[in-house]
Amino acid sequence: RPALIIDCDPGVDDAVALLLAFAAPALDLLAITTVAGNAPGHATQRNARMMRQIAGRADVPVFGGAERPMKRPPAGAGEFHGPEGLGDLEPFEPAAIVGDGPAANAIVDLVMRRPEGTVSLAVLGPMTNLALAMRREPRLAGRLGPVAVMGGARAEGGNITASAEFNIWADPDAAAVVFGSGCEVVAFGLDATHQVRATEARIRAIEAVDSEAARTAAAMLRFSQRVEREIVGWPTPDWGAPLHDACPVAWAMAPALFDLRPCRIEVETQSDLTRGHTAVEFRVDPATARHRWAVGADAQGVFDLIARTLEEAAR
Ligand code: BDR
Ligand code: CA
Repeated sequence: RPALIIDCDPGVDDAVALLLAFAAPALDLLAITTVAGNAPGHATQRNARMMRQIAGRADVPVFGGAERPMKRPPAGAGEFHGPEGLGDLEPFEPAAIVGDGPAANAIVDLVMRRPEGTVSLAVLGPMTNLALAMRREPRLAGRLGPVAVMGGARAEGGNITASAEFNIWADPDAAAVVFGSGCEVVAFGLDATHQVRATEARIRAIEAVDSEAARTAAAMLRFSQRVEREIVGWPTPDWGAPLHDACPVAWAMAPALFDLRPCRIEVETQSDLTRGHTAVEFRVDPATARHRWAVGADAQGVFDLIARTLEEAAR
């Protein structure tokens, strides 16, 4: 059972990913680390602790991290997540306090203390914390197990600009450090996450579970559903908002849910026009490729996994 650190910026879809991970006995969760992204750093850090409290997982430490990207000014994604990051969920101050940070130090300590290859990361926000950790400890990349990231845009273009997906765009310099580090990266970009949509039936299946965690997850999905209808568009009756950040966590639990292709991923950091674009090169030797790009997802399988995991935790 590889140990997992989740680095995130909750964020409504980050929150669902956290509630899934907290409910999953199969995951050995070492820590949650947070970064500014969807909301400012103080909010994402508190939001992670709120989810921990709702899930009853005070055993998992939360460490606050970078307040801003490596070189760029901070971005926000308020309209997609609400000003405090969790849609219209009323923020509260959780009982449990935050761990001794910053997150980058916690990542270095947790990974370097354990045997090589036994700690994996799921990165669900801008990659600032992991990039800072790699800069602090040059041996880190060689010690990590697979790093599963939500980020990147290829086939159908971006969601924040024509070329870029939000997490990579928000801190392209950090993403370039991570993809260039030599560690194994599995990227769940929009090609895959746009297949994983929270349709009405899938939200109802989660609402049918009687627990605060399930009710909170469903509230996040309902908020995204409204945003998708009002801001993005609703092309068919059976549509739904993409549940990006649950993908790396679902993959850690059930890898067969995704189709991955070996590749080499590089990030545009210079151009104003295409900043944060991910160039995904499939013409690589699969035996030596360090990156994989998710091309397909079993969306119903991901939602079944979420409902089942929350249901089992509620018993
Ligand atoms: C990513 O951007 C954020 O707004 C979401 O939480 C997700 O991590 C999708 O582009
Ligand atoms: Ca996120």
